[in-house]
Amino acid sequence: MADTITLIDDRTGKTVTVAINDGVFNSSALRELDPDLRMYDPAFLSTAACSSSITYLDGEAGILRYRGYPIEQLAEKSTFLEVAYLLLNGELPTADELDEWAFDVTHHTFIHENMRKRFVDGFHYDAHPMGMFVSSVAALGTFYPDAKDIFNKQSLDRQTLRLIAKVPTLAAMAYRFSMGLPFVYPDNSLSYSENFLNMMFKVGDDYKVDPVLARAMDLLFILHADHEQNCGTTAMRVVASSQSDPYSAAAGAASALYGPLHGGANEAVLHMLREIGTLENVPAFVQSVKDGNGKLMGFGHRVYKNYDPRATIIKKAAYEVFEVTGKNPLLDIALKLEQTAVEDEYFISRKLYPNVDFYSGLIYEALGFPAEMFTVLFAIPRTVGWLTHYAELLSDKEQKISRPRQRYTGASERNYTKIEAR
Ligand code: ACO
Repeated sequence: MADTITLIDDRTGKTVTVAINDGVFNSSALRELDPDLRMYDPAFLSTAACSSSITYLDGEAGILRYRGYPIEQLAEKSTFLEVAYLLLNGELPTADELDEWAFDVTHHTFIHENMRKRFVDGFHYDAHPMGMFVSSVAALGTFYPDAKDIFNKQSLDRQTLRLIAKVPTLAAMAYRFSMGLPFVYPDNSLSYSENFLNMMFKVGDDYKVDPVLARAMDLLFILHADHEQNCGTTAMRVVASSQSDPYSAAAGAASALYGPLHGGANEAVLHMLREIGTLENVPAFVQSVKDGNGKLMGFGHRVYKNYDPRATIIKKAAYEVFEVTGKNPLLDIALKLEQTAVEDEYFISRKLYPNVDFYSGLIYEALGFPAEMFTVLFAIPRTVGWLTHYAELLSDKEQKISRPRQRYTGASERNYTKIEAR
């Protein structure tokens, strides 16, 4: 027999019994009790707003899977473009399918010259790269009138390909502009991650992308490709629900990611490590966090109540990067901080463990990225997740335009008073 839940309206004595499937019951049953009854759930703490077959996350157990495949296996054996194919199509590609997909992405990396010469050149000299990225993604859609043909699968696939291929170009362009460096065009002979690093850092003809660093970049892209219904992805779905084109929706999602509570925590980790400064200062810093003076950045997660599996993978990758770049001096402080915290009752009892951001900033910095680029680095791979959710939402017959209700707490009806009488 299926699990059920029975809701009783104590005002009327009416009851309704609903099935529980996968830990979720359909809240529309409430309207059977009373059509005007609403659930109050700020920040959606108890709401499942959609069904999704993309990413599985068990925060208690520290499990993350894309389309059923454990993140640890994908991180070790796959590439970012293969993972992108998996997320978008639901299955791993055959060798031919992967070749065709990689070829197509590689051959859509260029952007219209007007984007660079007229649009990007219009930004103020010190514009934040993430602000430039958000606006460029929205502006890109205006170059493709077919972007609005969202229920035509061929057209939607074309926009998906364009966005995934072009976001590294937009990101690198924002960085080069902010540094006053000449723009580097995409190089079709390079892989996705190599091409991105080349567009970012090439100065002169001698620059060659180090394969270990390109692999680390690819790994970081894999780990950030999707994370089910987080703030940015929810923004993507809400905008998409009005049948807005994928560029506009992705710009909305990127705007949500821009905030420091979402995509900006790794930057805060670096500031924190610098502030701590020396190993000797770690115990005092941990004590001050316990005393309520700020948070241990890169620790804790709304869903993970265990090690974030991505943090474990990133920590290992950090050592491989440091073999090439030399050790980031902040690593020792991070290690001591982690060790001190995970053995401390305050953090154990609250189930606070390192999250994805605890070590990623250290790698980004070692790769040569300034802190302002960290959120942009998150947005590049997450574009794949956003677009996968966009397509899933459009094909979901149970979805409609997102339109939550509210609990009104304002004034009751009152009469307008003339300005002289106020
Ligand atoms: N350092 C110290 N104490 C913490 C931390 C932390 N990083 N995180 C939570 N706590 C404490 C809270 O003070 C609270 O203690 P209390 O019960 O004594 O009041 C308890 O742990 C529960 O914390 P909540 O705030 O209820 O947890 P919530 O799920 O709302 O917050 C969040 C999750 C925002 C990630 C939080 O842990 C945090 O701010 N961490 C630091 C910022 C960070 O690393 N963000 C990146 C998240 S990953 C990502 O977005 C990609």
